[in-house]
Amino acid sequence: MFLIWSLLVTVVLANANDLVGTWTTKSRQVITGPGFYDPLNDKLLEPNLTGISYSFDKDGNYESAYYRAISNPAEPKCPGGIMQWQHGSYAVFANGSLTLTPIAVDGRQLLSDPCKKDTGHYTRFNATERFKAYSVGIDKYHGTKRLELTRTDGSKVHPMFIAHEQPKMLPTSTLNPNPTGHKAKREARADTGFYLISRDQLINPNRWWWLGVLMTSLGGAAFFYS
Ligand SMILES: *[C@@H]1O[C@H](CO)[C@@H](O)[C@H](O)[C@H]1NC(C)=O
Ligand SMILES: *[C@@H]1O[C@H](CO)[C@@H](O)[C@H](O)[C@H]1NC(C)=O
Repeated sequence: MFLIWSLLVTVVLANANDLVGTWTTKSRQVITGPGFYDPLNDKLLEPNLTGISYSFDKDGNYESAYYRAISNPAEPKCPGGIMQWQHGSYAVFANGSLTLTPIAVDGRQLLSDPCKKDTGHYTRFNATERFKAYSVGIDKYHGTKRLELTRTDGSKVHPMFIAHEQPKMLPTSTLNPNPTGHKAKREARADTGFYLISRDQLINPNRWWWLGVLMTSLGGAAFFYS
């Protein structure tokens, strides 16, 4: 009887629904959703403090937001920053592992150097994440739900605390099928395959042309099917 009970408890605890919600590290300044990435202007929005956030919905979609400082030994007064945003689908396997597969064209990374304001490198970012295990429990100091993710090498991501029971996420479909829109201007960097886009290009009004194309084709489709 006890065995059956403990099996049931194990199954319930291992239920992927545990993951549902928006999670954030201690600073609570990094939260997935429109406050971190603005898909219309294709822009990452810098939080006040560094941190990590993940959201999971009950339908198998996830979103992740990272903001970390990078030390700059050459100029210690000028630590750089790195922001990464991705969304896509997640899967929990029977062995307890968790895989996050991004929508490749939608991920974004911004490398910034506050002492050289014009050289922020804004690029596509596409990295599948695999975790050996995850666990959700109640943190005894904070009294809130806490998520721990264990990487495949056994190291742990900083613990995250529940920020929203209802996940705060952007639309889970592909957001930018024509990201950064300027085929002629962007340079492919052979070593990473990332596209480098200058800040000027990011606010280039040509983007609105692409938006127009997108809206027109969506409008056309709606007309066609109505
Ligand atoms: C768990 O299962 C998944 C899917 O079968 C597999 O890809 C992964 O390598 C397994 N992980 C471990 C730690 O065994
Ligand atoms: C994204 O990453 C995956 C896995 O590393 C790779 O198979 C895929 O080709 C990449 N897609 C793009 C558009 O870079």
